[in-house]
Amino acid sequence: MPLEIIKLKSKYDVKTERVTNFYSANPFPGYKSIDNKSTILKKGDKSLLSKKIKNLFKNKKKILEVGSGTCQLASYFAIGTNNQVFALDATYRSLEEGRNFAEKNNINNIKFMHGNILDNNIKKDYFDLVWCNGVLHHTSDPYLGFVNSLSYLKKNGVIIVGMYNYYGRFTTKIMQILFKIFGKKIIMMLDPIVKEMKSDYNDKNAWIEDQYNHPLEKTYTYKEISEWFKKNNVSLISTIPNSTKINLNELDQKIISEAKNQEINKYQFLNEIMMIFNSFGKDGGLFVFIGIKK
Ligand SMILES: C[S@@+](CC[C@H](N)C(=O)[O-])C[C@H]1O[C@@H](n2cnc3c(N)ncnc32)[C@H](O)[C@@H]1O
Repeated sequence: MPLEIIKLKSKYDVKTERVTNFYSANPFPGYKSIDNKSTILKKGDKSLLSKKIKNLFKNKKKILEVGSGTCQLASYFAIGTNNQVFALDATYRSLEEGRNFAEKNNINNIKFMHGNILDNNIKKDYFDLVWCNGVLHHTSDPYLGFVNSLSYLKKNGVIIVGMYNYYGRFTTKIMQILFKIFGKKIIMMLDPIVKEMKSDYNDKNAWIEDQYNHPLEKTYTYKEISEWFKKNNVSLISTIPNSTKINLNELDQKIISEAKNQEINKYQFLNEIMMIFNSFGKDGGLFVFIGIKK
């Protein structure tokens, strides 16, 4: 019997329909034919953020990945742990890819849920960790998506939110114009991520479509997301690129249990502008906020 993909009661507005049609044609991030447990572990360990968070959340934790796409991160948190991982996405085809990967690799501690984050229909105050990276800026109401995601998190639980940056995405915006005029070839020549990818066409295609041909994306500043945190009683701990006194490297159980709110650097907008010129801008201008629900 194939692992079940639980269907949540959800309504999709026109914009969400458009986004799910897009991801049905281009499931993100997609798997390479050689992928298995060990390649997923290697990929997860390569990112300081996922490695650090997995180290802190590996023993009987309840973890929700919101907008899991093809569920690589959910798999990473599930492999070799006794965690209970939940992967929620609005695109059935992406979840199918995640489910098939889990089946093939005997990963039994992930539950797959098909639904819209703009509907609030999961158990409240339940998860130790809610991870939502690269998702909310593709929804018709990112703030509502954030508030819903937060409602599933326990008190003192950790929330991770990754969004496109208003300044940091400048280069990508220019490349989107080039893509419209010249098509994929110019991106193959210019995009540093594509150039680094040694892998199959599917992988490159998923990245190019997601970055340059997306039907719905918005951008945000540090100030805006820190206001979301304040308004919803979430202590801001750290960010990537860093803007608080706590560097991701220093994050530990003590800092999490103290949940002491950190202010972002007064001149942070200058660092955001710098994203245009450093590796963050080349990576699509994503920034991450790490917080604790009070
Ligand atoms: C860029 S992908 C990110 C996938 C994954 N988080 C990652 O970082 O690899 C965005 C995902 O968000 C999902 N998504 C977009 N709108 C959504 C919504 N309203 N509810 C749930 N998922 C949504 C899409 O289906 C897609 O799989």
